[in-house]
Amino acid sequence: MKDVHELQVRRLNSILELLLEKTKEFSDINRDQPLEWSIMHMYTCSQLAKLLAIKRGIDPEIAGIAGAIHDLAIIETGKFTDHGPNGANLVRDFLNHYNKKFGDNYGFVSDDEIELIVKATIHHSDKKQYSDDKFVELVKDVDSFDRYLHGKETYDFYIERTNRVLKDLKYPLL
Ligand SMILES: [Fe+2]
Repeated sequence: MKDVHELQVRRLNSILELLLEKTKEFSDINRDQPLEWSIMHMYTCSQLAKLLAIKRGIDPEIAGIAGAIHDLAIIETGKFTDHGPNGANLVRDFLNHYNKKFGDNYGFVSDDEIELIVKATIHHSDKKQYSDDKFVELVKDVDSFDRYLHGKETYDFYIERTNRVLKDLKYPLL
């Protein structure tokens, strides 16, 4: 019989669709970052978060959702300053909205899972700080690695975090 594998990411896929819909509400005028960057970063962080989560023994779907949604405040406000803390309520509301609209079809994101994602969103910009929260650190590492892969200037704390990912994936370090 053929070997079949299916990663359980139906909630994530539905959330990605909803997020893409959300980006259509906004234009590129008066934004600190182009909307295209936010969209690109949303998808690639989500994929990388799954990859790294599998390696680190973390739920890949919840990691993928956090990777996708952690910059929601930038998408919604166009502003970079304090977008982590500013994203807390936006992320909570967005995931509750997902639950209401699609939870019955694709599965609910539990309150505990929502709070994990909210916590990672709030703290993801504190790249110089290391905590013992594996989930929060994963989002910081993935965010840094994704920037690097997109050709953004990578220095001190971003190098450290990128190297944490490269090390886990057994790639040569920067
Ligand atoms: Fe961010």
